Amino acid sequence: MFRPSHRRLALLACSAAALCGLGATAPAGESTSPARHVNQERLWGTLQKLSEFGRNPGGGVSRVGFTEADLAGRAYAMSLMRDAGLEVRVDAAGNILGSRPGSKNLPALLFGSHIDSVPHGGNFDGDVGSLSAIEVVRALREGQITTRHPLQVAVWADEEGGRFYSGLFGSSAAAGLVPPEALETRDDNGETLGYWLQRIGGDPEHLSAARMAPGSVAGYLELHIEQGAVLDEAKIPIGVVEGIVGISLRTCTATGFANHAGTTPMNRRQDALAAASRAVLAVREVVRAEPGRQVGTVGQLKVEPGAANVIPGRVTFSLEIRDLDAQKVERIGERVLERFAAIGQEENVRIECAAPSVHAPALTDARFKEAIRAAAREAGLATLDLPSGAGHDAQNAARFAPVGMIFVPSRKGISHSPLEYTAPEQVASGAEVLYRALLRLDAELR
Ligand code: GLV
Ligand code: MN
Ligand code: MN
Repeated sequence: MFRPSHRRLALLACSAAALCGLGATAPAGESTSPARHVNQERLWGTLQKLSEFGRNPGGGVSRVGFTEADLAGRAYAMSLMRDAGLEVRVDAAGNILGSRPGSKNLPALLFGSHIDSVPHGGNFDGDVGSLSAIEVVRALREGQITTRHPLQVAVWADEEGGRFYSGLFGSSAAAGLVPPEALETRDDNGETLGYWLQRIGGDPEHLSAARMAPGSVAGYLELHIEQGAVLDEAKIPIGVVEGIVGISLRTCTATGFANHAGTTPMNRRQDALAAASRAVLAVREVVRAEPGRQVGTVGQLKVEPGAANVIPGRVTFSLEIRDLDAQKVERIGERVLERFAAIGQEENVRIECAAPSVHAPALTDARFKEAIRAAAREAGLATLDLPSGAGHDAQNAARFAPVGMIFVPSRKGISHSPLEYTAPEQVASGAEVLYRALLRLDAELR
């Protein structure tokens, strides 16, 4: 599945050495790589500043979408966008959009990412793409370059989800996929998504105004950390994303009977947690039962009433399945539900799952992949084609425009963790490829 691009080995070794901080040696007077347009120190400085909003004392960040920390991070991102000369607005779905005029009457070229994080996440997922997009605009301004297409930087609202929505909220709204009733979703404090949408500057009354119709943008380009170990292990600085996985997310409930843990004999129990535990293992078995890269995860479990001396009466748990093939995701989901039904019968516990919330998989556009490869080649950087196992706003943008994604390495493939790391040089390489690919697409796209 992974195809090294047709690069000369010498160049690959050189860029790998530079990446490893080995300071590739070259004869005096000979430059090892073409000049960069983006400024590595300036970009890294903004990443460090953004990391202060929602910082955890133990490391990493909790800047969950629709929280105070998110609001503070968004204010910082908007100030950077204005300083870069962008005209900034927040659309009805809370997406931050920064515009720069082009020389022709064409639809805008859209590029960006997100700045919200998972709870106890890192400082690179989303942040690298968002702040690099702003750095690209600063570099264009310094170079006094006007593009043919107008440019629009997008910082999508609530990419990770978790508090109210299943993730990719802002881009789902842009693709017209958010049902109005979603705005009534309440968290444990009784606050609604609609309330928080208003707080971040959105307009819950007119959510459909955030819709981006097919043809209204020329294309969408996103730089992101890989979040897997492929580039890091191969020591390749740039990934060319082939496609983004589809994600199906269900909330399931195992309902048994809460009873006294000391007086209820083992053969008379309806233990919801015992049934849910078997269900968790069944997910793993079913997903592993066929070849391929599909994955299945139970990442949330709520046990009620949650006391050491009470048999669990109810367990609520998440069921997430991902693959590039939407039919496979659906087929595996059906098999898992069959296994849940059998386990429920055996345990005398009812296991039910709500209809899934689905983010469809998306393939990237051939012109975008070629522009990224050519941009990397120009910048002296090796590339590798690979799929994305993580979800991205680009998969929603693919509903209304051609899309492309650039990956940079994640150290040891760690992400959604405070240990997430991509070195300054690697971040700047990604930003430089974003800069060059954007200009190529600006010249090529009609
Ligand atoms: C987003 O990061 C996801 O893949 O869940
Ligand atoms: Mn993420
Ligand atoms: Mn992300």
